[in-house]
Amino acid sequence: MMKQLPKGFLWGGATADFQYEGGFNEGGRGLLSHDFETDGSQENPRHHTFQMPDGTILKPRSSFFYADPVPSEAKPVFLDDQYYPSHQAVDFYHHYKEDIALMAGMGFNVFRFSICWSRIYPLGDEETPNEEGLKFYDEVISELEKYHMEPLITICHDEMPMHLALKYGGWSNRYVIDCYVKYCKTLFERFGTRCKYWLTFNEINAVRGFGPCGTRESDGKVRYQADHHMFVASAKAVILGHQMMPESMFGTMYAMSELYPATCKPEDIFKRLQARRENWYFIDTMARGYYHPYAKSVWQHHGFDSLEITEEDKEILKEGQLDFVSFSYYRSNTVKKDDLWFNVGGSSNPYLENTPWGWPVDPLGLRHCMNEIYDRIQKPIFIVENGMGAIDEADENGYVEDDYRIEYLQKHLSAMADAINIDGVDCLGYTMWGPIDLVSLSTGEMKKRYGFIYVDMDDKGNGTLKRTKKKSYDWMKHIIETNGKAL
Ligand code: BG6
Repeated sequence: MMKQLPKGFLWGGATADFQYEGGFNEGGRGLLSHDFETDGSQENPRHHTFQMPDGTILKPRSSFFYADPVPSEAKPVFLDDQYYPSHQAVDFYHHYKEDIALMAGMGFNVFRFSICWSRIYPLGDEETPNEEGLKFYDEVISELEKYHMEPLITICHDEMPMHLALKYGGWSNRYVIDCYVKYCKTLFERFGTRCKYWLTFNEINAVRGFGPCGTRESDGKVRYQADHHMFVASAKAVILGHQMMPESMFGTMYAMSELYPATCKPEDIFKRLQARRENWYFIDTMARGYYHPYAKSVWQHHGFDSLEITEEDKEILKEGQLDFVSFSYYRSNTVKKDDLWFNVGGSSNPYLENTPWGWPVDPLGLRHCMNEIYDRIQKPIFIVENGMGAIDEADENGYVEDDYRIEYLQKHLSAMADAINIDGVDCLGYTMWGPIDLVSLSTGEMKKRYGFIYVDMDDKGNGTLKRTKKKSYDWMKHIIETNGKAL
């Protein structure tokens, strides 16, 4: 079957500022909650570092899906014996020209990156933005224009200016909506004539806790009220964006693993429906513009009955619906009746193999997810993250023969092409996660690599930062050149 994709299909890569950019104390950038997050591994979760008024050091677990509560008196602190990956990341801040040229060399026509909120508003609640921060992204966008690459901007990728987290409790406080909308307005004024595609938040269905949301509690009503404030903030940004930039298109990004019932036992099938609604809850509300009646059962599952939702909020949600649904897809999950599941976890799947980080590899699951989202929402979709975190062995020149990555991508891209060409899914594009190796979000490691381009840096930030093309670089270049025909 023909794999060639429709004309104008967007091919590219995706990154996030605190995993890629570095320069944490340059150009007037303020501190982010992630700047206090240490490195980790599969066995040793990442943590934030805090100090209590009596000097006691606290290290609450901050791993993406499982955040420990943070006491209200605790203040963030940098410890000399800890490594904080966001400070340098892989230094896009000083390598952006070289990196964009390398990506252009593969034929990318889109590049997804996130703007660092605290580079534009260092505290988050001040009146005027940081000109140096705006200038940096001006230069990045100029480089993209040089190579005819469309920017796809994530306005907020799982992050919070530290000051907003400490002073207001992050997204648990309605006031942060105003700070976010002011930040969006600044971006639209400055970049609106040059950028068409915007994502209001990254993986909004998965973020919680101090790092991404600035909340000291990560579950229950605190989390869902914070999510509601993010829904309203996103809808306000969409309304404003459409007014200021009539050609603009808005999405929010969702973590969308495939999800299977462990057996055909009716209880397991029903568990799948309930577990899936933990994700649909976010997509339905933002893309359809209202809370579905099942929302109440989701809240009850998390121990409460209602949220503070005003009539004005409801109007805003209705008006600020998303134009497209974007999502990340890496893996599938499997659930049965009594499983504890929240986007990860659950049962194992005997039909699939796992990556070294235990993520089941499931290309057909991608095709199924694309269909499921498109059937339900009936708006264009955009795959804005996909890829394989693997351990790469570089030779003395930094070259990696990454056939396993080529195999993973070949199967996933073929499944995507089938969803488009056979099933009729309207998909705007595909941006592979981490086209240039960057720091892992969940573990803070460098050795979990996704890229077509190797970066000489280890888990503790040692290395020359030299960039070297891997074998997959030329493979992907050929796929893009043929617009998928060579798959
Ligand atoms: C998504 C995030 O969860 O998955 C990215 O949007 C993240 O920020 C990516 O890096 C892959 O996860 P990890 O933990 O392998 O970096």
